[in-house]
Amino acid sequence: MSALYIYFLLTALLVAEISCRGFQVKNQAKQLFLSRRVVTDSGEFDGGVLVDEDGIISGIYTRETLKGLKFDGATVQVIDGGDWALMAGVVDSHVHVNEPGRTSWEGYVTATRAAAAGGITTLVDMPLNSFPPTTTLENLKIKAAVAREEVYIDVAFWGGMIPGNEIELQNMIEAGVIGFKGYLIDSGITEFPNVEKDELDNIFSILNGSDVTMAFHTELPISAGNDTQCENCEVPDPNLYSTYLASHPPEMELNAASLLASYIPKYDVHVHVVHVSAAGVIPILEAAREERIKAGSKRWRGGVTAETCHHYLTFSSEQIPPGHTEFKCSPPIRNISNKLQLWEYIKERRIDLIASDHSPSVATMKGPNFMSAWGGIASVQFGLSLFWTEAKARGLSLSTVSHYLSAGPAHLCGLQNRKGTIQPGLDADLVFFDPEASFVVTPEIIFYKNKLSPYMYRVLTGKVMKTYVRGQLVYTDGAVYEKPQGQLLINDKVLFN
Ligand SMILES: *[C@@H]1O[C@H](CO)[C@@H](O)[C@H](O)[C@H]1NC(C)=O
Ligand SMILES: *[C@@H]1O[C@H](CO)[C@@H](O)[C@H](O)[C@H]1NC(C)=O
Ligand SMILES: *[C@@H]1O[C@H](CO)[C@@H](O)[C@H](O)[C@H]1NC(C)=O
Ligand SMILES: [Zn+2]
Repeated sequence: MSALYIYFLLTALLVAEISCRGFQVKNQAKQLFLSRRVVTDSGEFDGGVLVDEDGIISGIYTRETLKGLKFDGATVQVIDGGDWALMAGVVDSHVHVNEPGRTSWEGYVTATRAAAAGGITTLVDMPLNSFPPTTTLENLKIKAAVAREEVYIDVAFWGGMIPGNEIELQNMIEAGVIGFKGYLIDSGITEFPNVEKDELDNIFSILNGSDVTMAFHTELPISAGNDTQCENCEVPDPNLYSTYLASHPPEMELNAASLLASYIPKYDVHVHVVHVSAAGVIPILEAAREERIKAGSKRWRGGVTAETCHHYLTFSSEQIPPGHTEFKCSPPIRNISNKLQLWEYIKERRIDLIASDHSPSVATMKGPNFMSAWGGIASVQFGLSLFWTEAKARGLSLSTVSHYLSAGPAHLCGLQNRKGTIQPGLDADLVFFDPEASFVVTPEIIFYKNKLSPYMYRVLTGKVMKTYVRGQLVYTDGAVYEKPQGQLLINDKVLFN
């Protein structure tokens, strides 16, 4: 067969694909995804991505090299996205799904359908806000048993580190958790107490030398103050955002980051700071990383990493209206100079990844009082568009988006050989993304459970058109495929024996 003939054949199949807009049930054929803008971690090109029958990427081609492709009579389904960018699916390493136990807040069905609609192909569930929390092997089994029937995309798990569960950590590692999350300050959830300073050495020792990541909510309490004894001073208005912001100054994050940094030279374990808000955390961690690398660490990024979240990169405290606690999260959204500093670090690639920290609640837990409202922002469906909206305005490329939303988090989770980039041998977790389209966030388009969002009625740039998990279409034209086809990225033998 001549190359030209194959090209005609491809074109014929392409026409067939366009006329058939339904969902495929299972991959029966090889698939060739075409795009004028195939995006990788390092750039963009006009070409195609070949996916085998098992949903694994088997080849990457420029438009020129495509012409030489030979299939030896095999059927190949061609899916041409035209000008839509073809990107690696987003890996969101920070999502609170809350099931079982707090399913009125969120659940696997709603969270993973929202994720699929947002171009997320893997999410990692946080160990708290579900009940029971993921702090023992038994609890992980309970969670996995629920999740396994309900996930529309692939899901991995963080375990939790709390005082007294040291004996469970190894069991959970064997079950396949990607790491452990702990708090250095009250988590707001009674069954998930924070780790005290004098317990840190013990936990670091237990995990010293292991491949899992220790992730911390990096805030330390500041002295409680004595305002109860203050008779004539004004009580700040709890409905004002500035009141909440003043109660969580940057020092809380900086002190906690310095505390963690003091453990880094003594132990060989990956330390990750979740949801950095105060930009000053970044240089503290960089100094610790430099020391590690000088000492010969072969870990990714010296085993010292930080994430920030879409809300810190989109909003600044000055914009938050009184009573609008859908903007409340912890640590808080800070002022405009802090936001611009975070963007500088993004441009300089001094932050490692960006996650949603989707942490929903029911509406009744929000209310107008910033001091008492639930601290958590719901956003899992919109991360790719949120980041692109801001990044595009700053002249950054889609490749940078992939770097921060897919490759970085995949590395953090130890999934870099399976997820996070368009590369032969990796899962065909792919997204067609229209970078020029725009849309308005409205309650009607939200797939997650509680339709609350600080992004409501905002116009976002860049629209997820189709999402594929391991080569299977899970989202297209505003609809999620009716059957859950996601997998749990855990050790089935330990969890379901
Ligand atoms: C107690 O309150 C007074 C008056 O507001 C203040 O000057 C002082 O620094 C406070 N002490 C502590 C320990 O916070
Ligand atoms: C942690 O493990 C490394 C080797 O993996 C060892 O050199 C170091 O002494 C250990 N740290 C502590 C405090 O035991
Ligand atoms: C933002 O906050 C920091 C520290 O809290 C402060 O030093 C800075 O002046 C503030 N910038 C603006 C524009 O308010
Ligand atoms: Zn969180």
